[in-house]
Amino acid sequence: MSADEAASLIKNGYNIGFSGFTHAGCPKVVPGAIARLAIAEHEKGNPFKINIFTGASTGDKLDGELTRADAIDFRAPYQTNKSMREAINKEQIRFCDLHLSTMAQDIRYGFYGNIDVAIIEACDVTEDGEIVPTCAVGISPTVSRLAKVVIVELNRWNPKELRGIHDIPEPLDPPCRKDIPVYEVKDRVGRDCIKVDPAKIVVVETNEPNEGGKFSPVDDVTAKIGNNVANFFIKEMAEGRMPKTFLPVQSGVGNIANAVLAAMGDSKEIPDFEVYTEVIQDAVIGLMESGRVKFASGCSLTVSNECIEHIYKNLSFFKDKIVLRPSEYSNNPEVVRRLGIIAINTAIEADIFGNINSTHIMGSKMMNGIGGSGDFTRSAYVSIFVTPSTAKDGNISSFVPMVSHEDHSEHSVKIIVSEYGVADLRGKAPRERARTIIENCAHPDYRPLLMEYLDSCEPGHTPLNLYSAFSFHQAFKETGSMKNAKIVKK
Ligand code: COA
Repeated sequence: MSADEAASLIKNGYNIGFSGFTHAGCPKVVPGAIARLAIAEHEKGNPFKINIFTGASTGDKLDGELTRADAIDFRAPYQTNKSMREAINKEQIRFCDLHLSTMAQDIRYGFYGNIDVAIIEACDVTEDGEIVPTCAVGISPTVSRLAKVVIVELNRWNPKELRGIHDIPEPLDPPCRKDIPVYEVKDRVGRDCIKVDPAKIVVVETNEPNEGGKFSPVDDVTAKIGNNVANFFIKEMAEGRMPKTFLPVQSGVGNIANAVLAAMGDSKEIPDFEVYTEVIQDAVIGLMESGRVKFASGCSLTVSNECIEHIYKNLSFFKDKIVLRPSEYSNNPEVVRRLGIIAINTAIEADIFGNINSTHIMGSKMMNGIGGSGDFTRSAYVSIFVTPSTAKDGNISSFVPMVSHEDHSEHSVKIIVSEYGVADLRGKAPRERARTIIENCAHPDYRPLLMEYLDSCEPGHTPLNLYSAFSFHQAFKETGSMKNAKIVKK
């Protein structure tokens, strides 16, 4: 079929499950055809909007084009697209921000209604209904099985020799769920493809490259954060709180996470390690080639195009060192707790007691979503949040009296790291946590103001001054800088 013929199978109000996890593994031509169909229907005065379910964020050819065509009513569980972010914050798209490990099971539990169509990018599809995904798995096994129609975007840009890199199980649901027998990072528990009734497959052929962007080069601040994390690990091993053989690492999305991994790779005192994570970024691939990363389990290869082309050219080297799993396995809290994963994620802001905001700007505007950070943080051996001490030319302090939105509570957050140092929150009461965070992580320009806030608080287990808890955010809104915060003492 052509992409336009495939799009004509989609009707207003349909629930569509797409493959992909970040830009990796997303369909690239059928979404554009659906956007054209939506625009044509709107011009005729007809309603046309769909509900979109994915593993995580997608490329601009999916979330971006469909948003700009005003073709999306509902979206879950995560996004990173500029157009979509604007539409969500104008309340034009209903967005449900979820822990990524729960998306597939919530669909199976029937929380969102039926999946009408699945649209899956594949590097191969066989006559008997075997679909081999490209560089991500996400929720593809579940939506392909549940959908009435599966549109396979057979993308020849990806070699079909990728078959074998995936591990694709699907769990039974409670009360029949069994344990997940992943006892080591490299354990495989599923098949190498998705298998569905071939009668419901239609195929659209394409040859579109990935939409992989570039990472910013490591700068002074991100390099210092990376070194602080690496030095923390060295101390933990020296003092016997972490095995000298090390533990598998999960690292979040974005430039900071990439820089942290690079610093860990450079550190001679950290042994070669394994990665059990959600997105495998460029830094992991480099470290794999230098022998520092021994094995990586993830849900997607979220790498630059240059990097994925390199992997494809050297598939025989990488294929036995990487496994790509569905998000409910790559991010599974049962496995995270069992393997003792070191979770490293990025915060937008933290408060002085260790609560973390990963998702909202100034409390109301959605940035991306919680992604897999909660899946890992809550169950980790040690959970770490990293952030530069300030944002927007120093006018925003990443450390505030109270977070404007809370994603990870003080109960789940063990360590916070900025370019200034490490706040170890383990075994500390709230007031001690506050002092540690202010002294070790906050920018020196903001330390006196934060101490002034702490001193102004009504005593209690968690000190609080209700009149000034949002004074930093209020000052930024009113004057353009948190430095102008006024602490009110009552
Ligand atoms: N207030 C306002 N804006 C802030 C801010 C704050 N406290 N802190 C950061 N920002 C802005 C930055 O200025 C930057 O803005 P820009 O895009 O206009 O330049 C933007 O937020 C991104 O910040 P940056 O420092 O470049 O970090 P990043 O690219 O590493 O992203 C998160 C940080 C938190 C947005 C990102 O890691 C995320 O979405 N996390 C949630 C999901 C997750 O953790 N997934 C991993 C699980 S496996």
